[in-house]
Amino acid sequence: LVFNEPFRPQYHFSPPSQWMNDPNGMVYWDGEYHLFYQYYPDSNVWGPMHWGHAVSKDLVYWEHLPVALYPDENGWIFSGSAVIDHQNTSGLGTKENPAMVAIFTFHDPVGEKNGRDDFQTQGIAYSTDKGRTWTMYEGNPVLKGPGIKDFRDPKVFWHTESNLWIMSLAVKDKISFYASPNLIDWTYLSDFNPAWAAYGGVWECPDLFPLTTEDGETKWILFVSINPGGPQGGSATQYFIGDFDGTTFKTTTQSVKWLDWGADNYAGVTWSNVPETDGRRLFIGWMGNWNYAQVVPTHPWRSAMTVPRSLHLSKKGDDYLLLSRPIEELKKLRASQAEIKGEKIQLENELMELDLRTKSSDFRLELANAFGEKLVLTGDKENLRLDRSQSGIIDFEKGFANAQIASLNEIAVETLTIYLDRSSIEVFVNGGELVLTSIQFPKQPYDKLRLEGFEPSNRAYSLKSIWR
Ligand code: FRU
Repeated sequence: LVFNEPFRPQYHFSPPSQWMNDPNGMVYWDGEYHLFYQYYPDSNVWGPMHWGHAVSKDLVYWEHLPVALYPDENGWIFSGSAVIDHQNTSGLGTKENPAMVAIFTFHDPVGEKNGRDDFQTQGIAYSTDKGRTWTMYEGNPVLKGPGIKDFRDPKVFWHTESNLWIMSLAVKDKISFYASPNLIDWTYLSDFNPAWAAYGGVWECPDLFPLTTEDGETKWILFVSINPGGPQGGSATQYFIGDFDGTTFKTTTQSVKWLDWGADNYAGVTWSNVPETDGRRLFIGWMGNWNYAQVVPTHPWRSAMTVPRSLHLSKKGDDYLLLSRPIEELKKLRASQAEIKGEKIQLENELMELDLRTKSSDFRLELANAFGEKLVLTGDKENLRLDRSQSGIIDFEKGFANAQIASLNEIAVETLTIYLDRSSIEVFVNGGELVLTSIQFPKQPYDKLRLEGFEPSNRAYSLKSIWR
């Protein structure tokens, strides 16, 4: 596989060809991180959904595998999750060789066309050979809706305290929780929809998981992707911090928080079954936005994932903050290191990691090429701003050429870690206190870096492609 087309991500995951959206079913098992994804193998725009599949031993280098789940008489295969059924609660594997069980939404296009309100249901499928072959459970669907059209994206985890599987489900403008002893029989538990949350669009792709602060305090985090209604327009993911007692999730914070302030991180969720010896909560998101994902100028594939990130919880006064950091494994990609001295630097490579220290709250960073195309990142006391209005090809959608403004909310920018790939930029402030992910399509790689307001010496690494 060459994967060297214009704009082809060189170290971000992308499908070999055709359309991809949400990451699905991420699960670690027997030395492999599985990544499934919303996939339409017959076109490079959205259509009848399948689950594409890839595996990685280190979350950096990926091996593409055949399509895992195909539409059947219950419908197309929408987003969902996967677990390892260690105790064989489902009876679909054995304790010695536990089943990998995928829990996903069936979207019945015929029911939708006929104006029904029960066309989204939840189904399961299982594999006993490390995800290589899959069998649909014959009693599908396992959970039917209460007559609400948007009833999807099940994310399931094993809740040790209650000895039950817990499912978070996106139901129009709320998250509903369900419980099951066996992944087959599900009982409704509760709803979550606080009045002050962001409701600019439909709620999708929830994820509920615990995180512990450095001081040993454990809180539960709930992710809710919304589309539209994100801070830059279109898609984005909000998160809530609170407590989960096995039945109900209650927030202890009272304001909308964005997992990523950029325009292009959506529907992200976390890996299940990561070994306790690792202990990390690992995340990947879809590096796209429904406002224009289907018309971006790439061929023969569309879309990529963010770099994998580890999530951390920190206490800030009375409030909590979720930090997202690029995983350590990405350091493997470093090919050569250079000291950045001065304000104008010629970049040797289009794939870069930049580790920068600011001098004050006012700074400016410009990445440009010989065509005069540029990306401009600026900071002041209040905001971080990424302007992609002259970043390259922008005319495929009216709103693409925007300036993305992130509210710093008292965060004083000290360090910036920037990952630049052929068609994306990810900016991590102060080790993940604020993140901004954005895509762009320059006709030629940016090779000139201009810095204003940074310390005199910074570091830059050229990165390797994972495909060569
Ligand atoms: C989010 C989403 C999910 C749905 C899937 C369909 O991007 O709309 O809610 O399951 O994509 O592809």
